[in-house]
Formats: sequence, C-alpha cells, structure tokens
Amino acid sequence: MTEQQVGKAQPRAAKGEGATVGVALLGYGTVGAEVFRLLGENRDAFAARIGGPAEIRGVAVSTLDKERPGVPRELLTTDAKALIARDDIDLVVEVIGGIDYPRELVLEALKSGKSVVTANKALVAAHADELADAAEAAGVDLYFEAAVAAAIPVVGMLRRSLAGDQIQRISGIVNGTTNFILDAMESTGASYDDALAEATRLGYAEADPTADVEGHDAASKAAIMASLGFHTRVKFEDVYCEGISSVTADDIKAANEAGYSIKLLAICERIQDESGVESVTARVHPTLVPQEHPLASVSKSFNAIFVEAEAAGSLMFYGNGAGGNPTASAVLGDVVGASRNIVHGGRAPGENTYANLPIADFGQVQTRYHIDMEVPDRTGVLATISNTFAAQGVSIRTVRQEEFGGTARLIVVTHSAREHVLAAIVEQLGNLEDVINVNSVIRLDH
Ligand code: NDP
Ligand code: HSE
Repeated sequence: MTEQQVGKAQPRAAKGEGATVGVALLGYGTVGAEVFRLLGENRDAFAARIGGPAEIRGVAVSTLDKERPGVPRELLTTDAKALIARDDIDLVVEVIGGIDYPRELVLEALKSGKSVVTANKALVAAHADELADAAEAAGVDLYFEAAVAAAIPVVGMLRRSLAGDQIQRISGIVNGTTNFILDAMESTGASYDDALAEATRLGYAEADPTADVEGHDAASKAAIMASLGFHTRVKFEDVYCEGISSVTADDIKAANEAGYSIKLLAICERIQDESGVESVTARVHPTLVPQEHPLASVSKSFNAIFVEAEAAGSLMFYGNGAGGNPTASAVLGDVVGASRNIVHGGRAPGENTYANLPIADFGQVQTRYHIDMEVPDRTGVLATISNTFAAQGVSIRTVRQEEFGGTARLIVVTHSAREHVLAAIVEQLGNLEDVINVNSVIRLDH
C-alpha cells in the first residue's frame, strides 16, 4: 500500500489531564525489567511529566516459572494478546525481540487503537511500512527511539531535530556487542569467544548473538537511520552487511601496526552513480579507522554516530549503546511522549518517505581497500600487482612488505574507488600466479 492509499485517522481523543495511562509491558528481560523498575521508582516524576500517572497493568513473559522479585504475581501473564486487548490498556511497550511474533502483537495493538513503544530494531527494519501504516490508520503513535544506539537519541534527532536540514551521511558504531568484542581483542588480547561471552553476560548481546556478530543488528539500525535521514524507505535487505566473525587477532595486530583500529561501522549515504543519478546506500562492515580518529577511541559497548548535514555541518553523538539501563532510558522517553499524547491528545510526527530515492547498488559506493596478501619473494611481483591496480585506474596509497623465508606478506592500501572496481581487482589478484593467497580485505572509511 502506498502512503497516499493509507487512511489517515484523526488522533485518538485525549483522555484528559490527570487521567491514568494503562501500560502493557511485553517482555521482562534485560530491558523490560529496567523499564518496570524505573517507571515504578519514579512514578510521581513520570506523572508530572506526562500530566497523569503511567501504570503498568500487565507484564507478558514466556514463562511464569521464573523468579521475578519486585513484580506482583497478578501482573504476570503468558498471554500477551489478551493483555493487549484489555480495555484498560492505552499503551503497549514491546521489549520481547524477534520479528514474527512481536509483529503480530504490535499490529494488533496499533489496529486496536493503542500506541506502541518498541525497542525492536529487527522488527522496525523489516516492517516499518506496515507498522507505520497501521499507526497512521488508527491515529496512534509508534515510537522506537531505543531501536538505534539505545540511550543515544538518534531517532529523535533524525526525525525532529534535523527535520529542517538535508542529511548527506550518517555513519558510526551502532552495535555495542561487536564494539565490546573488537575493543577487548585489541586492548586486552581477549579471545573472540571470551569477549562475546562477557558481552552476553553484561546484557548487550541479542538473544541470538549471531545478529550482533554477523552485522544484522547494525544493519537493522542502518536501515532505520537511512529511512529517517533520507526520507526514503530503506529495509534491512537493502543494507550490505558483513559482520566481525572473520576478523582475526592477526588482522587486528596488522591494523594496529599500520596505525588503525578495526571497528564495525554502519555507513548510510546519499551518493551519485557514474551517470549522476542520486540514490541512497547503507552498509555495515568491519572498517579500518585511523587511531587518531574519534571513532577509534570508542571503547567497550559505547556507540558513536556522525551526521553530516548541509546546514548543520558535522555532528557527533556518543554514549551508551546497549544494556538494560541505557535502553530503558530511551524506552521511557518514548513512554512519556506517547503517554502525553494519550492524555493531552495529538500525535508525534510519523514517518515521511516523500523523497523515495532509489537504493544504490553496493558496487557504486566509493571506498578504499586494505588488502593483505601472501606473495612469493621474487623480482617482478610488486610490478605485476601494481599493474593490476593501474589497469583498473585505481591508485595505490601505501605498500608494506614483510619477508617470511621464501614468501612475503604484502599489504596494499588503495586510494578511493568504486566498490565494484576494487572487488574485481581482488578477484584478479587471487588468480595471479604472483599471489599465493589474499589473506584479508578490510575497507577504510577515512
Ligand atoms: P531478553 O531476551 O533479555 O528479554 C526478552 C523478554 O521477552 C523476556 O522477558 C522473555 O520472557 C520475553 N518473551 C520471550 N518470548 C515471549 C513470548 N512469546 N511472550 C511473552 N514474552 C516473551 O531481551 P532484551 O531485553 O535484551 O531485548 C528486548 C528487545 O530490546 C529486543 O528487541 C532487543 O533487540 C531490544 N534492545 C535490546 C538492547 C539491549 O542492550 N539488551 C538495547 C536496545 C534494544 P522470559 O523472561 O519468560 O524469558
Ligand atoms: N545487541 C545490541 C548491541 C543491543 O549490542 O548493540 C543494543 O541495540
């Protein structure tokens, strides 16, 4: 359904100053438990900010067999749908995770005229259009600040603060788990497996951490940021995605020796292809960042996002990107916003995809490569390799060579070129007799 076809309902009638907002909390895990605790502990402050109390009237979980100290037994249920359907529920907070089941729950809530707050980036990146249409048709709110970079107010910044500007580029570290792992491997020499286990213990990783380490979580966030920033529907499957599971301790050591750190970056840009047609691109991949660049010093589970906008110039946002408390902060900010609208009337700005730019082919992106190769240590090898780059019009920025007995390790860093050209060169290098092995290829962004 196009935006024009979507029925626009009037915002739901205001409940009125002092009215209680009935909240259904779906999920009581890392995030849900903190939302419950903070809303309860600061009840009066929330009531003052909203204009009436926000009361959690039910908590949906997957089992009633777990100990949940602090939650009255009668609030707990395993029947999320029945909880959503209750007449005393005005607002549904979804912090379960996953896609299909929360999609059903969120759609049911929106269609029955209840506003929704979700922290679920996988759901928003996969079904933003359907969810936005349902919210629009019912005249209710759909908030998802916590879906990108937890406590850092990226969604509000893109949706409201920069609504008067033209954004060119959004880039940065948007996954706390992978940043924690890469930082631990670099700074303490921790193994990949130990660092991932620690990130999971600390509540940063997704229920299935494959989503973190394979870059899917960051890709969902990139899709959301690109959609909001470029007023264009960008979905999860539009984002080029490589995770960190193939990054080795050796890659990190080589990067450090060359003056770089390896970070998993999400990069969203407006670009022009070779014929000058403007489009949007979003990608997630391990990236070499110069050690003096601010992104290199983003440690542990912190996130940092750079925005380049025409009038505002360059902006940087930094803070806690994962964990129960920081995420609850973002969820509760949305609870206040949605509850205010329930009490006083009105709706938050919804999505706007008017620009509807095409999604660029990843091959059109301008990037740089750091190529680590094993080559025979003999005359002419360097010439063959540099000719392979020259034949494609790509210029080499630096070359480093280390000898190992009869072979040599050659590290080539290129100047900027289109992704498809650089990828073709790597394929050719892999087929040369003068190259024993292409050990790794990592992109540079600066
Ligand atoms: P958890 O796995 O810790 O918690 C999930 C909760 O959902 C649990 O309470 C679980 O119940 C409940 N649940 C699972 N299945 C069902 C079901 N069928 N019906 C009812 N309840 C169910 O996840 P998190 O709190 O870490 O994450 C929640 C959401 O927030 C995810 O979308 C995640 O991507 C997002 N998020 C998480 C961040 C983080 O740092 N953790 C940061 C930003 C966003 P039970 O307790 O019985 O197992
Ligand atoms: N698993 C996510 C991360 C949680 O590590 O960043 C925050 O979205």
